[in-house]
Amino acid sequence: MAEGETKLTGPDLAKGIPFESLPDGQMLVGHANGKAVLLVRTAREIFAVSPHCTHYNGPLAEGLLISKTVRCPWHHACFDLRTGEALRAPALNPITCWEVAARDGWIKVGKKREQPQRRTHVEPVAKPEGIVIVGGGAAGFAAAEMLRRVGYENSLVMLSSDAALPYDRPNLSKDYLAGAIPFDYVPLRDQSFYEENGIEIQPGKTVVELDLRAHEVLLSGGERVGYDRLLLATGAEPVCLTIPGADQLHVHTLRSLADSNAIIAAAKTSKQAVVVGASFIGLEVAASLRARKLEVHVVAPDKRPMERILGPDMGDFIRALHEEHGVIFHLETKPKAIDNVVYLENGSMIEADLVVVGIGVRPRLELAKNAGLRVDRGIAVDKYLETSAQGIFAAGDIARWPDPHSGENIRVEHWVVAERQGQAAALNMLGERAPFDQVPFFWSQHYDVPINYVGHAETWNEIQIDGDVMKKDCTLRFKHNGRVTAVASIFRDLESLQAEVAMEREVAA
Ligand SMILES: Cc1cc2nc3c(=O)[nH]c(=O)nc-3n(C[C@H](O)[C@H](O)[C@H](O)COP(=O)(O)OP(=O)(O)OC[C@H]3O[C@@H](n4cnc5c(N)ncnc54)[C@H](O)[C@@H]3O)c2cc1C
Ligand code: FES
Repeated sequence: MAEGETKLTGPDLAKGIPFESLPDGQMLVGHANGKAVLLVRTAREIFAVSPHCTHYNGPLAEGLLISKTVRCPWHHACFDLRTGEALRAPALNPITCWEVAARDGWIKVGKKREQPQRRTHVEPVAKPEGIVIVGGGAAGFAAAEMLRRVGYENSLVMLSSDAALPYDRPNLSKDYLAGAIPFDYVPLRDQSFYEENGIEIQPGKTVVELDLRAHEVLLSGGERVGYDRLLLATGAEPVCLTIPGADQLHVHTLRSLADSNAIIAAAKTSKQAVVVGASFIGLEVAASLRARKLEVHVVAPDKRPMERILGPDMGDFIRALHEEHGVIFHLETKPKAIDNVVYLENGSMIEADLVVVGIGVRPRLELAKNAGLRVDRGIAVDKYLETSAQGIFAAGDIARWPDPHSGENIRVEHWVVAERQGQAAALNMLGERAPFDQVPFFWSQHYDVPINYVGHAETWNEIQIDGDVMKKDCTLRFKHNGRVTAVASIFRDLESLQAEVAMEREVAA
């Protein structure tokens, strides 16, 4: 739904409201001249902006005000209330701003404000002659968009082995796979965006070698592309099963749009699917295939789905939720062979005309390894996301960075982190020296239940549960030696945002 295309509610803000009806620190949804408007009073100023997040239309009125910014409750995008700019991914487009006046005890919203297309208050420190981005996913796209947003005007080349223009990867296992949204929602931008912004995007181009001495990347067709600054954002690839029959046409993995389309095509003629792996992606696929009315079996070695990341209570809940929707679990076992039946190690056999394998991913590190960059279960980067080679940066699923919150070098596979790292790397390629210090965040969606997770907890010795997990109203605090390192929540969006801010403040202090 486009911005403002909602049923209008609340007061007519063009006519005005009494000043005292909007206390400091409060938000109010109303309308002006036929558009929904969010009125915000914060830090002794009043702002009028769109109430809809430009990512997936999240209700900003239910978000969190931090000084002159508002954070979206759904996936933690952050907008500047003064300019509307999307300061933090996953939103990339600004929200609309209106003029607002507080006079004679009344607040009134006026006309829509002209919004700068570019961030005008930042001047690039360095102006490299040419930047090359390897990878057209979350990190690569967000970097390119940010480079142009802050006014970088020189050559910008984006090379991506994917044949499609950059797209919204999280949707590939959720609404798009379930058939709930059309294809139009999937691309992050259409071709005209790249043309208008002078981003030389080359889909279907695979980089096979980095020539650090010549400052060039080598493409599979033999072509060479020179760079002054290079961003590696090649993401991760699915781990494949190696059991007999795993190479057949009806056995799929899911990473790309082409993979999702192949599963959709197969689902149209299939009756029974086996999903191997009770990971986020595996279970999202299970939910989407149930929406397409397939019988779905999930096979995984775990005792409970996602217990390693979310703990036993959430694991039990997720299992019960999927069972309510008809998913059949085969846990504590693995597949040992596949033909038109999946044979399990526990002796069971499940008929399947579609198999989707979701058993994890591994970062694509070959380019970095072969070029001699420092690699440590990911490309090792410093706090500015620069690799061991000066001028070469890495972001997203491939990067292992010094996370100030956990105090460890971590690598995660989260959409929002990849985009934000792409944005930070973009600024640092222009010499800004902006440390990447944001709190990791991810979300996952199962039917109508979203799970939000902030922080990073590889291990914990206590999970403090507030609320009722089975009633889908809970906050789980993962503690290591008494300190909260991560917070997972269901339908407690404000608490999730507050936990993020608390973690930010802890590090800042
Ligand atoms: C189906 C699915 C659903 C997901 N859902 C969620 C979710 O709900 N929430 C969440 O937080 N995360 C989710 N994720 C994870 C998230 O999508 C990733 O963390 C994110 O995409 C990582 O971004 P990236 O830029 O590092 O890599 P990618 O987005 O994978 O992009 C890598 C790009 O590099 C290109 N490439 C690779 N090698 C080369 C080469 N040699 N030359 C040129 N190009 C190359 C690829 O074609 C691709 O375009 C999901 C992932 C998948 C697959
Ligand atoms: S809907 Fe706002 S961040 Fe996703």
